[in-house]
Amino acid sequence: MVALFKTDSVPYRPLFAAPRSLSTKFLTLLSIFSVFCLAPYLLPSHIKPDFPSFRIPTGRTRGTCPPRSWAAGQWVPKPPPTNRTDFTKPQDAYEFLGFQGCASSREHWWHLAADNEKLYDRFPGVASWDWATPSDCEVRPLNPSAIVRDLVEQGGWLLIGDSVTENHFFSLSCLLYPHVRATPDYNENPYYDRGYPQNLYLEPSSPLVHSIKFPRGFDIEKTPLVTFRRIDLLLEQPQLDHIYHSLHPDSQYVSANQSIFSDEATWNTSPQEYAKIFTSPLPEGNYGTMIVSTGGHWTTTLFSGLKDESMFKDGIQNVIDFFGEAMEVWAREVQSLLDDAQEEEWRKLRNKIGRLTGGSKRSRQVVVRAYLPGHEDCHNYRAPIETYSKGRWGWYNWNQIDLYNDAFEAVLESRKFPDIHFLPIDRPALLRPDAHSAGDCLHIMSGAGVLEGWTHYIWHYVTRELPGRIR
Ligand SMILES: *[C@@H]1O[C@H](CO)[C@@H](O)[C@H](O)[C@H]1NC(C)=O
Ligand SMILES: *[C@@H]1O[C@H](CO)[C@@H](O)[C@H](O)[C@H]1NC(C)=O
Repeated sequence: MVALFKTDSVPYRPLFAAPRSLSTKFLTLLSIFSVFCLAPYLLPSHIKPDFPSFRIPTGRTRGTCPPRSWAAGQWVPKPPPTNRTDFTKPQDAYEFLGFQGCASSREHWWHLAADNEKLYDRFPGVASWDWATPSDCEVRPLNPSAIVRDLVEQGGWLLIGDSVTENHFFSLSCLLYPHVRATPDYNENPYYDRGYPQNLYLEPSSPLVHSIKFPRGFDIEKTPLVTFRRIDLLLEQPQLDHIYHSLHPDSQYVSANQSIFSDEATWNTSPQEYAKIFTSPLPEGNYGTMIVSTGGHWTTTLFSGLKDESMFKDGIQNVIDFFGEAMEVWAREVQSLLDDAQEEEWRKLRNKIGRLTGGSKRSRQVVVRAYLPGHEDCHNYRAPIETYSKGRWGWYNWNQIDLYNDAFEAVLESRKFPDIHFLPIDRPALLRPDAHSAGDCLHIMSGAGVLEGWTHYIWHYVTRELPGRIR
């Protein structure tokens, strides 16, 4: 990391500085280029710097890599982050996964899969794979410092989803460490409910603080870079009941005064609520991207009202059909909430209130990450697989997750939702049965490259693929 800051802070200016002797110029160029060329070898292999400040304009268009192209890659071996093989205690996880630490304190060792001695033999092999993309795919090299910078300058990320999205949040708290700090502190108070917001903030002692261009009104103490909200279904249960009954007044399954839900535990907040967070002005909010994912909780046990034992898998198709209907309503609502917020910001800017309150017109995007099934026999694996096949036993709704994803994607193909994008980037994870948590086969451990790959691609997508798109 030290090398990263050094290279990052080499200013561009010397190339254009006032005339100097030829040899000084030559030496400057030589030293810049040697840093440029050597840095990739000096850094941990999962951190590949890109050097925005060295990019000499060539008139070439910026590289692109659409989601399907990214997803068409393959896992290739890379040297592990350490040559040690004696993993004996949870604290070894950082070195064996190539992290300096992780900012989040919630279920810390569980997220790092360092909580089960029987599976210690997975380290460091589990962190010795790179996702290699096809040659037509020009993706920004993964660079945590550049991500931190973009999370301030171009807007933070609001993560909305279930416990798998929480896995993503935890991974970000490691990848961006030590430049971020996390709240709340679960060591101090382990009793916060799962629904409690978790945040990453810029760490004031990070050397990046000196080179970031802060938006007016940004407060290092108060403005989150990343927020996670545990929201399993994207809509509240009463809203979903209402949607179901209005679309199916003559349902054969539930009468108009019955809920479609069992009392199975689930955490949900309405889109109005989280759109309010997403669009809140500085210093409380500076979000540019909302990353959404759902699927795992759409089961016939939670949606027990739609259960039909005479059908395949207790009528899972009823739940899938309703999922498509509900996501259409969700997308309409979210797009209109975004449109309203943007309208309001334009109005404030026109009235010049914006300038006084630090308001700005920010373009906000929603990306929907395809959901993922687990792998039934995951703990038997010690390497990626080449092709995914569905589980033999058909646990939970895992073998139907592709149908949920197809339904959500079909909704978002509509031009009615210009700011909501479906990202079918689930294939890298499908090929990593070896990368699950140590306690179950759905959740994904930090550091194996899967969750870090979501961060990598989504960052590329919102900073390279979306800008300049014709709306
Ligand atoms: C592991 O050992 C090899 C061979 O000696 C060496 O090239 C490599 O740099 C070492 N890796 C780490 C992370 O120390
Ligand atoms: C629900 O509606 C049915 C008729 O549709 C009625 O017989 C029943 O009493 C109602 N139940 C409740 C709890 O209101």
